[in-house]
Amino acid sequence: MSAESNPRMHAGNGLEGISIGPSEIGLVDGENGQLIYRGHDAEVLVRENCFEEVAYLLWTGRLPNEAERQELRDTIFAAMRHVSDDQSILNTLNPEAIPMDSVRSAISAWGATRHLDEGGTLADAQAALGAIAGSVALLGARRAGVTPGEIKADDSVARAYLRVMNGAEPTDAQVGALDAYLVLTAEHGMNASTFTGRVIVSTASDIGSGLVGAIGALKGKLHGGAPSHVSSMIDEIGTPENAEPWLRDKIEKKERLMGFGHRVYKTYDPRARALGEVAERLGENDERLALARHVETTALELLHEYKPDQRLYTNVEYYAAAVLETIKLDPGLYTPTFAVSRTAGWTAHMLEQIQYPRLIRPQVDYVGPMPS
Ligand code: ACO
Repeated sequence: MSAESNPRMHAGNGLEGISIGPSEIGLVDGENGQLIYRGHDAEVLVRENCFEEVAYLLWTGRLPNEAERQELRDTIFAAMRHVSDDQSILNTLNPEAIPMDSVRSAISAWGATRHLDEGGTLADAQAALGAIAGSVALLGARRAGVTPGEIKADDSVARAYLRVMNGAEPTDAQVGALDAYLVLTAEHGMNASTFTGRVIVSTASDIGSGLVGAIGALKGKLHGGAPSHVSSMIDEIGTPENAEPWLRDKIEKKERLMGFGHRVYKTYDPRARALGEVAERLGENDERLALARHVETTALELLHEYKPDQRLYTNVEYYAAAVLETIKLDPGLYTPTFAVSRTAGWTAHMLEQIQYPRLIRPQVDYVGPMPS
C-alpha cells in the first residue's frame, strides 16, 4: 500500500536521537562540533598519531607502544599480502564492477576462507583491516592497469596502501594526507553502517558478515557515497561565477547538495575543518581548492537562505573529496577508501557488541489491514 493510499504511512523517524545503549568507543558531539575517540580528541590524534595507532586505540582503549605498533603493522601487512595470493578474493576484484560491490564481495570471500567463528576476536579485526586495505589497494592497481607495488617492512599502512595501489612510491605529503583522512574517518558513533555491523554480530554471527553488511550500508550516497559526488559537483560548476546559479537551481529543484548537512552535527563538522586544513597544507591544486572554498561559502549562504531552520553546515565528505583529489586517488575508490578507515571503527563496535551480547531487535508499528 502506498503513502498516498494509507494516511497512516509516513517516513518514520530514522531512529533519530535513539540510543542503542552505552559505548566507550566514540563521542560525536553534534552541538559543539567535537569528535572524541576513547577519550582522545580526534583533531589532536590526527596531528600526533598514524591511522594504525588510532585503530589500536579504538579496539583496545589505549595507544600502542612502538613494539605493539610494529606487531600490528606486521599483522595488517600479512593480511594485505594474502589478498594477492588468494584466488577466491582476487576473483572478486573485477576492475569493471562497481568498486564497492567488488570490495563487499572480496570481504565476503575473505570471511569464507578465514573460517570465522561465532562472535569475533581482536585478531579477526586486525586481519579484517589488512584484508580490506589489501583488497581496495589491489582493486586500485587493477583499475589503473599498473603492477601493484610491494609492501616494505617499515611502511605505515597509508604508505603501503598507496604504493600497492599506484605501483609507485608516494610522496610524504600524499602519505600524510591519506593518513589524516584515515584517522579522521575511522570512527563516528552509531552511524548507519556501524549500526548495521552491530546488528549483524548481535545475532551471534561473525565479524566478516558484519563487515559485508556495513560495506553495503556505507555504499549509499546519503552515507559514504558522497565524496565522488562532491568532486563531480565542483567539476560541473567549473567556475566561481557559475556557483550561485548552479547551486540555486539544485536547491529549487529540491535536490541535495552533496557534502552538506548531517544527522548529528548541527554545526561545522570538525572533520571537515581538519581535512580542509590538510588540503590547504598540501597546496598541490590551489585553483581547485579556491573554487571548492567559494562553492562551499555560496552553498552555505544559499542553504541558510532557503532552509533557515535546518542548521545545515559542511560535512566531512566535502573536504574528504578535496584531500582525496589532491592525492590523485581514483574517484571510484573514494568510498572504498572510506570503508578501509571505517573498518577500524566498525570492528571496534562489533567487538564491543560481542562483549556485551544482546540481540538488537526493534519493532515496527503495523498500520496495514487486518483480516476481516
Ligand atoms: N542539501 C539540501 N538540503 C538538505 C541537505 C543538503 N545537503 N541536507 C538536508 N537538507 C534539507 C532537507 O531537504 C530537509 O529540508 P525540508 O525539511 O525543507 O524538506 C531538511 O534539510 C532535513 O533533511 P533530513 O533528510 O531530515 O536530514 P537528515 O538529518 O536525515 O539528513 C543527510 C542527513 C542524509 C546527511 C543529509 O543532510 C544529506 O542528504 N546530505 C547530502 C549527502 C551527504 O553529504 N552525505 C554525507 C553525509 S556524512 C557521512 O555520512 C559520512
